[in-house]
Amino acid sequence: MALGRKDDLTSLNIRTCKEGDIKNCETVTHSEIYKMTNTLKIRGLNKHYSLNKHVLRDIDLDIDSGEMVALIGASGSGKSTLLRLIAGLVAADSHSESLIEVQGQCVQKGGTISSKIRSIRSNIGFIFQQFNLVDRLSVATNVLVGLLHAIPLWRGLFHYFLPHEKNKALESLRRVGIDECHAQRASTLSGGQQQRAAIARAMVQGAGLLLADEPIASLDPESSRKVLEILSKINREDGCTVLVSLHQVDFAKRYFKRIIGLREGSIVFDGSAAELTVDLLKKLYGSQANELFEPEIQDLTLISPANEWHFNIA
Ligand SMILES: Nc1ncnc2c1ncn2[C@@H]1O[C@H](COP(=O)(O)OP(=O)(O)OP(=O)(O)O)[C@@H](O)[C@H]1O
Ligand SMILES: [Mg+2]
Repeated sequence: MALGRKDDLTSLNIRTCKEGDIKNCETVTHSEIYKMTNTLKIRGLNKHYSLNKHVLRDIDLDIDSGEMVALIGASGSGKSTLLRLIAGLVAADSHSESLIEVQGQCVQKGGTISSKIRSIRSNIGFIFQQFNLVDRLSVATNVLVGLLHAIPLWRGLFHYFLPHEKNKALESLRRVGIDECHAQRASTLSGGQQQRAAIARAMVQGAGLLLADEPIASLDPESSRKVLEILSKINREDGCTVLVSLHQVDFAKRYFKRIIGLREGSIVFDGSAAELTVDLLKKLYGSQANELFEPEIQDLTLISPANEWHFNIA
């Protein structure tokens, strides 16, 4: 493969490159190609919480730049733990081969979190189920918190933001559809609006990788749809790579091109929505599978191909 200008490389997958191709490339370095193509690289990731609590098992995973990926699996399968490890909030097993890189930067290796984690984390947005806004602050100030990594400490402490920073926050709030609420205290927003403010905060941060841990778990179906549409829009328009853990399989199938299924800490499915059959779901969710379906069709043996995706989204 002949590598040329950077413009030619936007759709290149590093995993298809041969060593010689990269060596012969005069204008683009290996790390530059890597950054343009691979946002997340995980190798040999293992996490125990105690001797007999092996929560993540030999995870190998690559997510390319601009992908929108859902992480599904039964309760306790390790979704939140995986996201927290990726963000460098939790360390993998010490003395293990575990490696996590985000945009070519090492988040953690062998159970040791990088000493540069604060700067690496500025490129990783994290959206939580419970929004994590500061209730007593205005919505706009909560969004501006996303800029703290990029401004002097004293300005952050005194909430001293420059006009262009405030405009950036307002623009993010406009994009998530709640700019009219910018002056309200965060505590006065509805759950769906609070989650949208949390997304605006991550947008202001300008992160290349957006992680969201069950961002719609406490929302009604309409608010859930809005939140997932906003995440899709950020992915499409800003090229931000998005990895979201979800319990609602139907939403995962509707909004995400790639779905990763965890079971007891192992990746047992990695493919498209169309490839995720009822049989695979039964394997993925085990005894929890029936909860995915509406009460009247809870007996999985009654599900025909015509109604197999008739999930309960409430
Ligand atoms: N800090 C911790 N200490 C001990 N065990 C933990 C800790 N955090 C998580 N676990 C255990 O790790 C396993 C995976 O938990 P995790 O929260 O990652 O699952 P999950 O897939 O996100 O589940 P859910 O869908 O219910 O949120 C569970 O058995 C959980 O009890
Ligand atoms: Mg969880």
